[in-house]
Amino acid sequence: ILDTSKSVGEWAAKYVMKRINDFKPGPERHFVLGLPTGSTPLGMYKQLIEFHKQGKLSFQYVKTFNMDEYVGLPRNHEESYHYYMWNNFFKHIDIEPENVHILDGNASNLVEECNRFERQIKEAGGVELFIGGIGPDGHIAFNEPGSSLVSRTRVKTLAQDTLEANARFFNNDIQKVPKQALTVGVGTVLDAQEVLILITGAQKSFALYKAIEEGVNHMWTVSAFQQHANTLMICDEDATLEL
Ligand code: GLP
Repeated sequence: ILDTSKSVGEWAAKYVMKRINDFKPGPERHFVLGLPTGSTPLGMYKQLIEFHKQGKLSFQYVKTFNMDEYVGLPRNHEESYHYYMWNNFFKHIDIEPENVHILDGNASNLVEECNRFERQIKEAGGVELFIGGIGPDGHIAFNEPGSSLVSRTRVKTLAQDTLEANARFFNNDIQKVPKQALTVGVGTVLDAQEVLILITGAQKSFALYKAIEEGVNHMWTVSAFQQHANTLMICDEDATLEL
């Protein structure tokens, strides 16, 4: 638990830098990193860019896999997760474009696209460190309430709560929020060696309570991480209001 959301971002960035540098990636050995979008991780991305500019961190031998993407938004739409990731992170660092993996929400066969993503993670040797955020309803990636806790990457219809929470990114017009997304499954994230979940703000406090103080429950999918051997939740004070 840290004082502010700013400290959460800075702490997470320092942690990611240490993990990559300690791993000593190279041409034959990539560090595989799972990444989230949303407003919560923005501070972390900013700080990681700063570390890169200071010459302390290279992404040359890092492969990334993003958690999710909306179905049907053009890639260059400002709210697509492709746009978010390139604009807020990838274009500022030295990552090779072929090492970036983001689900294609415009693929002609969405099921095949999800299966391909799972295969790519496997071929990369699995995810070393998956970073996630949560929705106010306790979802991780787009694993909405009721998702199977062993789910894999798939198409998901978004819950009303998520449409409402994300309308702020679409001129507060809920009609403009895509109704479906592609998302890694809870099982996909649970397979990672290590998971870091960033939770900030009072609007997430009930979800945090459900995540850690009650039992594992598929209506609060982030609670599944109670059964992961190596998960860390990084919160600010506001997020702990209900604990
Ligand atoms: C979306 C994403 C989640 C993210 C959540 C929280 O639903 N699919 O991966 O964790 O938003 O976003 P924010 O950090 O903006 O609260």
